[in-house]
Amino acid sequence: MTLISPGKRNTQEDQRGISTMALSVWNYCVPLAIITAACLVNTARCQAVQAENVTVLEGGTAQISCRLQNYDGSIVVIQNPRRQTLFFNGTRALKDDRFQMVLFTQRLVRITLTNVSVSDEGGYFCQLYTDATHHQVATLSVSVPPETPTVEVKQEAVEGGEAELTCVSPRSKPATTLRWMRNSREIPGVVSQQDNGKTFSVSSTIRIPVERKDNGAALNCEAIHPALSGQKRVRHYRLDVYFAPTVRIVSPTGILREGDSLSLTCSITGNPLPRDILWSKINDTLPERAEISGPTLQISRLSQSHNGTYLCQAQNNYGRAADHYTLLVYENVSVTTMAPTTPPTQPTTTKPTTTPPTTSLLEPESRLLDPEDPGAVVETHSAVPYAVIGGVLALLVFTVICVLIVTIWCSVRQKGSYLTHEASGLDEHGEVQEAFLNGNDASQGKKEYLL
Ligand SMILES: *[C@@H]1O[C@H](CO)[C@@H](O)[C@H](O)[C@H]1NC(C)=O
Ligand SMILES: *[C@@H]1O[C@H](CO)[C@@H](O)[C@H](O)[C@H]1NC(C)=O
Ligand SMILES: *[C@@H]1O[C@H](CO)[C@@H](O)[C@H](O)[C@H]1NC(C)=O
Ligand SMILES: *[C@@H]1O[C@H](CO)[C@@H](O)[C@H](O)[C@H]1NC(C)=O
Ligand SMILES: *[C@@H]1O[C@H](CO)[C@@H](O)[C@H](O)[C@H]1NC(C)=O
Ligand SMILES: *[C@@H]1O[C@H](CO)[C@@H](O)[C@H](O)[C@H]1NC(C)=O
Repeated sequence: MTLISPGKRNTQEDQRGISTMALSVWNYCVPLAIITAACLVNTARCQAVQAENVTVLEGGTAQISCRLQNYDGSIVVIQNPRRQTLFFNGTRALKDDRFQMVLFTQRLVRITLTNVSVSDEGGYFCQLYTDATHHQVATLSVSVPPETPTVEVKQEAVEGGEAELTCVSPRSKPATTLRWMRNSREIPGVVSQQDNGKTFSVSSTIRIPVERKDNGAALNCEAIHPALSGQKRVRHYRLDVYFAPTVRIVSPTGILREGDSLSLTCSITGNPLPRDILWSKINDTLPERAEISGPTLQISRLSQSHNGTYLCQAQNNYGRAADHYTLLVYENVSVTTMAPTTPPTQPTTTKPTTTPPTTSLLEPESRLLDPEDPGAVVETHSAVPYAVIGGVLALLVFTVICVLIVTIWCSVRQKGSYLTHEASGLDEHGEVQEAFLNGNDASQGKKEYLL
């Protein structure tokens, strides 16, 4: 679009000298209503002005340019969207230092506006003030890119429940697009958008079911906006899934004897991680020598009075948990107990000093490996292999016996059934049942048939 006005000479050389008074008069009194389109009929002789639309980021600097054609020295007036005159032929009229005239040639008038805000938006008027005054509008658009969005937790995530998270971008123009991502897959959210005059606030809410394994899972909320030229503003969020604690006592393997030391560690999970770990002994107080440091319970120089069940407990807001350990302290058996003649319950006083050093070194291992060691009434799980072998043997013997019995019984029954059919009308099975039920009588009856 080109604005044209009748070619008119302007004899005044420099309007910059014009007084502020006169400027303010121009500012408010320029009678734009008198604009006519008289020039349109005669383009050849016309001066013209052209304005370009401009889009700028908030806080940035806008350049507003008015291109002149056939400029003959007329007064060029630039006005803001409220129709206040910013510059009157190159002279500042409005006191706003953010506006600067940077160029005024025969072809181009250019002003800049620094620190642009959304309130600066609108049409800027480039006009030639002549007998017939015409103007052209440069539309200034301000875009407001979103800040990195924030995440609000609407409902805290408890194991087995749902997490409700809202991603918020409080201010953007045009409205930003929000996207929830998990492992580069989008989670569809419920989007709501609010118009705050010039800018928009946008939010996107997701609800996701959570399990314990989701604790610490990474979610992203991305803000996508034309003013970010392909970049994204990403908020990283780690799921915090609350769950009740689990407790497990890590205990030593192998048997413990008097004089050994015991170290139990309580391994705890939970979110939040329980801060206090409670050690106790069931139906008793903890022994004097028990030392608790953090998750570890230590008892040095065990004695049989330490026998008992030890409990580790922990709790958080979501539940409590406990694990127990049963301590059995065996007598301090000297190496000599390995001799078959030694009584099983050999007192600890048995000359440990006389033990040959080499044997002494092997002692603990021998104890564990030698099933004959009377002292090695090993812990339940250590005893399992022997129990299994014994059980298998017993089963084998039992099976053989059963097979024998069945074989004998079968041959006997064959014989008996002949007799049964001859001797009575009783059903064979009923007979056998009877034998079971009536015990002696039946077996006597059976004996009869067998005769
Ligand atoms: C307006 O300013 C331009 C550039 O400085 C000058 O050439 C022109 O003569 C001025 N016009 C008037 C009427 O003062
Ligand atoms: C400038 O913007 C206005 C309003 O948005 C529009 O009507 C006009 O066509 C635009 N002019 C150009 C040259 O793009
Ligand atoms: C830019 O303008 C805003 C208000 O629109 C103001 O708060 C800020 O201080 C200005 N910044 C500068 C550098 O002038
Ligand atoms: C148990 O025996 C070992 C050596 O076999 C000895 O060092 C320790 O003092 C004994 N402990 C007790 C309580 O008798
Ligand atoms: C603790 O004592 C109660 C009765 O006083 C008994 O029923 C329970 O079995 C005991 N527990 C242990 C582990 O000894
Ligand atoms: C401790 O446990 C061991 C192994 O069961 C047992 O032999 C001993 O008699 C117990 N001692 C006491 C004091 O209960």
